Amino acid sequence: DKGGWSSFMAKEVSEQPDAVANTLRGRIVDGVVVIPELAEFGDDALARIRRIVIIACGTAAYAGQVAKYAIEKWAKVPVDVELSHEFRYRDPVLENDTLVLSISQSGETMDTLMAVKYAREAGAVAISICNTQGATIPRESNAVIYTHAGPEVAVASTKAFVAQIAALYLFALHLARVRGTLSSAELLEQTAELQAIPEKIATTLLQGDAVRQLATWMTDSRAVLFLGRHVGFPIALEGALKLKELAYIHAEGFAAGELKHGPIALIEPGQPVFVVVPSPRGSAHLHPKVVSNIQEIRARGARVIVIAEQGDAAVLPFADTVIHIPLAAPLFEPLLAVVPLQLFAMELATAKGLDVDQPRNLAKSVTVE
Ligand code: M6R
Repeated sequence: DKGGWSSFMAKEVSEQPDAVANTLRGRIVDGVVVIPELAEFGDDALARIRRIVIIACGTAAYAGQVAKYAIEKWAKVPVDVELSHEFRYRDPVLENDTLVLSISQSGETMDTLMAVKYAREAGAVAISICNTQGATIPRESNAVIYTHAGPEVAVASTKAFVAQIAALYLFALHLARVRGTLSSAELLEQTAELQAIPEKIATTLLQGDAVRQLATWMTDSRAVLFLGRHVGFPIALEGALKLKELAYIHAEGFAAGELKHGPIALIEPGQPVFVVVPSPRGSAHLHPKVVSNIQEIRARGARVIVIAEQGDAAVLPFADTVIHIPLAAPLFEPLLAVVPLQLFAMELATAKGLDVDQPRNLAKSVTVE
């Protein structure tokens, strides 16, 4: 039931504040993250983990890439993020102090399932982040942290993505607590940031009309580029994936720092480029670098669409369009910056008369290789 919305995707995008709130529910007690599902490992076992390998495909893998920054920063454990289909055919080195964290909305993605089985056979501990109760991947894992985003029907993953990041951040904060890598004050502060996200996503959704207008102007685009840095990099990749799968437009995401190493050659007059800009307050060291990237592409004629924090005045002179997101600590910006990119892809596909719930050639869950 679309509940009055024009598509399941429109409904699911709008449900994102609840998806995150439901994933957090019951897992934060007196401002402290406690994940009951991890209790059986014992805090000592979690404290002994030397390395984490995240395995996933598609949008779930981008959630993993975002989480890498948070887990390494908070829990001080090295994290590798791998596509399940590359991981399982590569003879990866796994030891019994390696934790394999799988991420899957459906819990049925064949390559991720096989990667989990491989990891367990190699002696690693496997924890899954999954949105579907009782699915195969959680059954094959040592433990599961369910996202409670509710059923996701549209092929393009949206609310499951933000719920995955929320669950991964809960995991990271739990790990940081048992490993003693963040002070109590820091734990409380980051947890409060996480709890504020549902409301900030709701505020971000208010940009819907502006994004629709932008999308309507851009229906003839032949290629769209996305740039991001730090946690904005996987969001650039996710923005590009959404546009490919929904609007059938060639789209690429790049790390902004790579621009001079090749991608800037693509810039010609009129080329649309979305830029996810880090906060000038929270990321004072990165913000000017991204602004300078914007100047470089603008000087070559790019049409620049900026996703920036409310009040970021430095981007204004160089942007053709600015989409604002509410203030958040740097690691939490992806949960907000992704929303306009989801809306953009959905609105552009709609303007082209395409079926946003069931794009061509795609299945909701990829249960074959
Ligand atoms: O069910 P899963 O999370 O394992 O699915 C992974 C990907 O197939 C999925 O995220 C896919 O990339 C989506 N269509 C993206 O919108």
